Amino acid sequence: MDLFEYQARDLFEKHGVPVLKAKVAETPEEAQAGAEALGGGTVVVKSQVKVGGRGKAGGVKLAKNPEEARQRAEEILGLDIKGHITKRVMIAEGADIAEEYYFSVLLDRANRTYLAMCSKEGGMDIETLAEERPEALARVPVSPLTGIDDAKAKEIVEAAGFDGELAGKIADVLQTLWTVFDEEDATLVEVNPLVSTGAGDIIALDGKVSLDDNASFRHPDHEDLRDIDAEDPLELKAKKLDLNYVKLDGEVGIIGNGAGLVMSTLDVTAYAGERHNGVKPANFLDIGGGASAEVMANGLDVILGDDQVKSVFVNVFGGITACDEVANGIVKALELLGDTATKPLVVRLDGNNVEEGRRILESADHPLVTLTDTMDGGADKAAELAAAAN
Ligand SMILES: Nc1ncnc2c1ncn2[C@@H]1O[C@H](COP(=O)(O)OP(=O)(O)OP(=O)(O)O)[C@@H](O)[C@H]1O
Ligand SMILES: [Mg+2]
Repeated sequence: MDLFEYQARDLFEKHGVPVLKAKVAETPEEAQAGAEALGGGTVVVKSQVKVGGRGKAGGVKLAKNPEEARQRAEEILGLDIKGHITKRVMIAEGADIAEEYYFSVLLDRANRTYLAMCSKEGGMDIETLAEERPEALARVPVSPLTGIDDAKAKEIVEAAGFDGELAGKIADVLQTLWTVFDEEDATLVEVNPLVSTGAGDIIALDGKVSLDDNASFRHPDHEDLRDIDAEDPLELKAKKLDLNYVKLDGEVGIIGNGAGLVMSTLDVTAYAGERHNGVKPANFLDIGGGASAEVMANGLDVILGDDQVKSVFVNVFGGITACDEVANGIVKALELLGDTATKPLVVRLDGNNVEEGRRILESADHPLVTLTDTMDGGADKAAELAAAAN
């Protein structure tokens, strides 16, 4: 999960990273009140969107007083930055910037470690710097076991070319930023710019944080950081039902048990779709091991709620939960859904108790259900039905 800048700022503050006082506003009036609450002096009004390059797109503006803050907020609220519409602005105290630096620590998947990057030349042109003068951006691997301790912080600031008193001050802030990364289970903490002020203070002026969703069980408080507005309503519904569901762009709904089987079902369906007007899988849904009638009903309910879905392919391999239980699950699910189930369902069962499972579905003889013998056959039928309905 990527955070908004104001949320990153709050996390920084919680861990003791030096940040500026700030307020969040959704209207120009709130922006004006925020600027007043910050003392009535110079502030910056900053678009809160989850995309880089806000400054260059006109999403970061100085305001000398609260009245100007209201005007700047009026310009920035609603502003489209690379397809992201600004719904909120952050009002931050104006900083007396002497120099702008860059720092980030991130998960380096390719090298199976963490990586710290640091530069004396931070600010809005860091991407150009990384491309044209990569030597000006220090890259230092960080072990997950030791993190950014005294020695590592010193190594990073020296690699970036800092020296003297400044190097020591920056090193302290890097260690605190590491605590944010480590304790919040982040995969990215980036500060651009990290600034030194006229008074000699070091401040994180802009923050970008990505949290590792796999660790969310350790952080119940991260739930509040979720941007519900931006989430797909069907994915949200599936999450509440504890289903493993990912919405995709196609027309054939997919239900399977086990991530491996569901992924191959996506492949086979996409392949079959090439023969049928190019229809594609509409989602990934893994109902897992114990596919009870209720889980099957929940799964079907989510998928049938997607208007883009024209047919559904249920591909289940009976194991601990045998095919007859799965078949009963499908029959009961269709009963539970009643008239709300309107799209054709292609079912392929194999594995434990397959004969009994097929017998149950055949005798139920539901008008929406087509039974198939093979995975390829099922994918082809489901794609054909989706293409016909499209
Ligand atoms: N509180 C502040 N006081 C004074 N100047 C600021 C303040 N905040 C930002 N700035 C100036 O605006 C520039 C851009 O701000 P910021 O880094 O937050 O946005 P950005 O880098 O364009 O956004 P993104 O990180 O999304 O690319 C900074 O490099 C800094 O010069
Ligand atoms: Mg920035």
